[in-house]
Amino acid sequence: MSKINIETINTENTKLSSERIIELRNINEQYFIMNGKRKLYHILTYGCQMNEHDSEKIGGMLTSIGYEETDDSQNADLVIFNTCLIRENAELKVYGKLGEVKGLKRHKPDMIVAVCGCMMQKEELRQKLLKQFKFVDIIFGTNTIQELPGLIYDVEVNKKKSVDIIDNTELIYENMPKSRKFKYKALVNITYGCNNFCTYCVVPYVRGREKSRTPEEIINEVRALAFDGCKEITLLGQNVNSYGSNLENPFTFAELLYELNKIDGIERIRFMTSHPKDLTDDLIKAIKECNKVCNHVHLPIQAGSDDVLRRMNRKYTKDHYLNLVEKLKKEIPDIALTTDIIVGFPGETEEDFLETIDVVKKVQYDSAFTFLYSVREGTKAAEMEDQIPDDVKHERFNRLLDVLYPIVLDRNSQCIGNVYSVLVESVNNTSENSLTGRSEHFRLVHFKGNEELLGQIVNVKITNVKTFHMEGEIVEQ
Ligand code: SAH
Ligand code: SF4
Ligand code: F3S
Repeated sequence: MSKINIETINTENTKLSSERIIELRNINEQYFIMNGKRKLYHILTYGCQMNEHDSEKIGGMLTSIGYEETDDSQNADLVIFNTCLIRENAELKVYGKLGEVKGLKRHKPDMIVAVCGCMMQKEELRQKLLKQFKFVDIIFGTNTIQELPGLIYDVEVNKKKSVDIIDNTELIYENMPKSRKFKYKALVNITYGCNNFCTYCVVPYVRGREKSRTPEEIINEVRALAFDGCKEITLLGQNVNSYGSNLENPFTFAELLYELNKIDGIERIRFMTSHPKDLTDDLIKAIKECNKVCNHVHLPIQAGSDDVLRRMNRKYTKDHYLNLVEKLKKEIPDIALTTDIIVGFPGETEEDFLETIDVVKKVQYDSAFTFLYSVREGTKAAEMEDQIPDDVKHERFNRLLDVLYPIVLDRNSQCIGNVYSVLVESVNNTSENSLTGRSEHFRLVHFKGNEELLGQIVNVKITNVKTFHMEGEIVEQ
């Protein structure tokens, strides 16, 4: 491709798109007949479960037009980067890997390279990519996944570079084909976007305002998953607790849990993420009453100081959070609590940081994702004075881990001798404890067993624990 035209496809023109899908499917079928193998795609997914699930939709689209997945970019005819920009290092990883693929493309000029995901929702980053990584053939956004076949068609048939982003993040596409990674567990979107505008976070800018799928759409999807043998679902939203508030017929997250709990075949229901400002008593009651809803809540605190929380625009105080935790522990004594913590937010003083440490000690988390604050252009916090020097951030971060890890190990130690139900998620024949799964409380458990147990829920007695996993043995019950 010596000459490159950049054009934006009108995504409203779905007829054009579906004609292209049919034609592309025919081209790929011809390729299969001629070569005895299918064209291969490889997806690199960065970021959160939203992106993981979007990659399953991208895979579903590609499978429907005759591609097959490969886990090796060297063999791929199409390489897709599904990007994240939540922190600077997420972005840097993408640029690093794109550099590697540039070399590959030199040897395989027909290989198509596509970049999508949250990074591509930002105009500056699209421009940067088009300038610095000229070999990229396709750029699309989080809301234009369904246009991918049309974009591939343009590159393959019209020899045109394709960029397709729509800034209208208000649309929800239902019934997209999905190539699910696991048969027995599945991710299910319940909301898209976010209205919270935490001052450090880019998500509302790239994923748009919060939109809820209707309960009917969600219930139908989960029923179909159950029919297909799926046992565990994880409901996804940036703030699942505000689910349904802007639907034509408002429906709460708690109500949704009761409905999903009735679906035969589904044995476990998880959800991510709960915003502390919206966690209601009704929801606590639903977690307690719905036998399939796992006793685990991921409840990001972000910071312990009221002043930092206010400047983060989190809309709760340390006391409110600790009261919630107390209520959860009182109502559901074996609840597991996990969290996200940011260290070094602009203006964070030593006293502020000690408030975070205090929360960690009081809550006794089962595990936590800890992050160094990362400046994100376009967010309010990026403009704040008093950015914390890197060495101070790192020093606080290490002190946080020194407090956190012994607590996590202690929480795990309390499980020794107990029996937990574990969904077997992977098999590693090179290890003595060949099976790995997660307990209801989201703890990683390694144990001996037959690989036929993959996808089954088994009872495991815990015999030994480490900070990041536990070991046990299968018991009859
Ligand atoms: N919607 C979810 C989380 C989305 S992002 C929630 O509100 O809990 C996942 C985590 O990344 C956040 O909880 C936060 O801890 C972290 N994060 C987001 N922006 C960040 C930034 N600029 N620097 C460091 N960590 C960040
Ligand atoms: Fe980001 Fe806050 Fe929305 Fe979570 S709730 S996605 S941290 S803005
Ligand atoms: Fe997720 Fe990263 Fe986008 S955390 S929503 S993939 S910016």
